[in-house]
Amino acid sequence: MTVRSDLTRRLSRPVATPRRQLPEWKKRWFRNSSRQYLARYNRTFAKATKPGMLVLDAGAGRAPYRGFFKHATYESADFKLLQADQTYICDLTDIPVEDGRYDRVLLNQVLEHLPDPASALRELYRVTKPGGELICTVPLFYEEHQKPYDFFRYTQFGLRKLFSDAGFSVQTMEWMEGYFGTVGYQFEGMHRHLPRTVPSGLGRWRAGRARVLLGAARGLGLLLAGLFYRLDQEWKYTRTGYPKNFMIIAGKPR
Ligand SMILES: C[S@@+](CC[C@H](N)C(=O)[O-])C[C@H]1O[C@@H](n2cnc3c(N)ncnc32)[C@H](O)[C@@H]1O
Repeated sequence: MTVRSDLTRRLSRPVATPRRQLPEWKKRWFRNSSRQYLARYNRTFAKATKPGMLVLDAGAGRAPYRGFFKHATYESADFKLLQADQTYICDLTDIPVEDGRYDRVLLNQVLEHLPDPASALRELYRVTKPGGELICTVPLFYEEHQKPYDFFRYTQFGLRKLFSDAGFSVQTMEWMEGYFGTVGYQFEGMHRHLPRTVPSGLGRWRAGRARVLLGAARGLGLLLAGLFYRLDQEWKYTRTGYPKNFMIIAGKPR
């Protein structure tokens, strides 16, 4: 058995990532601006895709952008056997199609999960047509998720190097959200992760102070997260700070 098939088998096991479910009203309040930006970028990419073009959604998951590509021929690749309707169940380092098949490739929120991103990008380069384009969105700042299959976070310099080493020319590289989105996310984390109980050994006075501090910070986190997420949708501020995600458009030279 080759190393690759063993890796594919291991990684395709379904992984339950326990995450506390938020009540509906909180989900609405935390209307994460990243989702709006993801949809906006992918919709724009889809509009620039000509009718009949062949599109690959690499690491498609639940294929949230499939609907944007109704005018094109949409195919998807993912190694998770449980995700329905994938055209190809495969590792992104080994996609079972011919060279130069796709006019457009989507790679949304996947690169951080690939143990060998360089070889996956070389494979995506192989399956892209000369003159074809790829959109990639990928986090710089985000908590660990889909554990333990979460390997990297990327700076713009790392991304540029990875894409150009694979042969792509980077046409656009920009912040996907503004800094207010990052701040909103940090406040959301403060609300979700600060503890609700204090250890018994703290003593009465210290325990009381910790309870007040943590309660106030959690409440403030909830309020500020929602406000910053809204502000991020109205005003994409990029002069200082750092983004949660980068958005890259890369092309395969003709
Ligand atoms: C965070 S999800 C993103 C899904 C989708 N692109 C989206 O934007 O909602 C990452 C996806 O990449 C897939 N994935 C991770 N590593 C992969 C690999 N080596 N080969 C194929 N798919 C992979 C996972 O199964 C998962 O569906």
